[in-house]
Amino acid sequence: MATTSAWKHDFPIFSANAHPKLCYLDSAATCLTPKHVADAMYHYQCYSHANSHKGLYQLSANATELVEKGRNKVAEFLNAPTQSELVFTSGTTESINIVANCFVAPKMNRDANIVISSAEHHANLLPWQEICRLHDAELRIAPLTLSGIIDTKALDLLLDNNTLIVAISHVSNVLGFINPVAEICQLAHKKGIAVLIDGAQAVAHGNVNIAEIGCDFYTFSAHKLYGPTGCGVLYAKGDHLSHMPPYILGGGIINKVTFQEAEYINSPLKFEPGSHNVVGIVGLVEAIDYLNDISWFDITRHISDLSTYLVDKLADLDFVKPLLKHNCNVQSLPSLVSFQLEGVHAHDVASLLDSENIAVRAGHHCAQPLHQMFGVHSSIRSSLGLYNSYQDIDRLVIALNNAYQLFAIRELE
Ligand SMILES: Cc1ncc(COP(=O)(O)O)c(C=O)c1O
Repeated sequence: MATTSAWKHDFPIFSANAHPKLCYLDSAATCLTPKHVADAMYHYQCYSHANSHKGLYQLSANATELVEKGRNKVAEFLNAPTQSELVFTSGTTESINIVANCFVAPKMNRDANIVISSAEHHANLLPWQEICRLHDAELRIAPLTLSGIIDTKALDLLLDNNTLIVAISHVSNVLGFINPVAEICQLAHKKGIAVLIDGAQAVAHGNVNIAEIGCDFYTFSAHKLYGPTGCGVLYAKGDHLSHMPPYILGGGIINKVTFQEAEYINSPLKFEPGSHNVVGIVGLVEAIDYLNDISWFDITRHISDLSTYLVDKLADLDFVKPLLKHNCNVQSLPSLVSFQLEGVHAHDVASLLDSENIAVRAGHHCAQPLHQMFGVHSSIRSSLGLYNSYQDIDRLVIALNNAYQLFAIRELE
């Protein structure tokens, strides 16, 4: 059993002059950055930077080519049929807001309804909640099964002629299980309803295949895939984008403009006003190349081995209470576990872990209603990345024991 990850040395944050003792177990919040990605961004910004899609000089044309080649790369990565179905955004949050405001909002009325699940990140809850509130429409919440995935039968019962969209996560950022997204798309499409999949937690843990999933919209953020923050993607199937009005208005999205009116260019550029985040796109492309070079088989195996170990080790601690008990079937093991420590506040645990250089997330993880459903205010979330090893999990277990001794046992004495 290897005690360190074969890829840890790719991440400069662990170097001797940075954080050599860091045990990073918060990849679901953001993945750390490999040197390859940082170098590519540095080189672009220092030696090749220009404004894309605007200048008539070579440097600008090169930047335009980087963006458009990047679109191609993302299309390949997602197995999307054409790159014209892909919009670069600032991240998952913006991508979902575009769909809510430009695809769904124009069709809203007081009889309409929108279906999400009870395990959504606030990014895939608030935009729908707000447009329902504005139109006095209904937001319907599909429940989960006892194993923590969306209950497809119950979801099906919520769909009717007035459902405008089903918006669900591919993988919950609190429970970590893979939802049956292809099946949900089929159910919804049978009734003529569009489906948005929030892929923020799915992209780093296996090949996402949009053609197989069959969704109408898919969203993700580069930083959940070892790329930079401030860059993300919206995939929209077929001609959805061409029927949608632009979201943010400004330079770079018009064919013709007068003081009275504007005629917009075609999508996807219609949804990319202002200046492109070229350096972010360069980082995203490099991250995809980096992961492809490692191979998705090796990535999935590494995370799944660690996940088995994490779940087993936590199960040995009787004072650790997972929000949901994990069924130890390796195929379905998540890359993250959310739990509570009996008698200790999640924030106290996270602070103590921090004092031992262990980074975990503590709180509601932007999924407050889900925590309310479990009858708790907060939890501790430990999530895995390429740089993690069995040793990190051993350190976590020792630190959790220490936290329990310090806070809970002392409290009882
Ligand atoms: C499932 C899920 N959806 C959406 C988001 C929001 O992503 P971003 O902050 O990159 O827009 C996150 C971030 O944690 C997430 O986990």
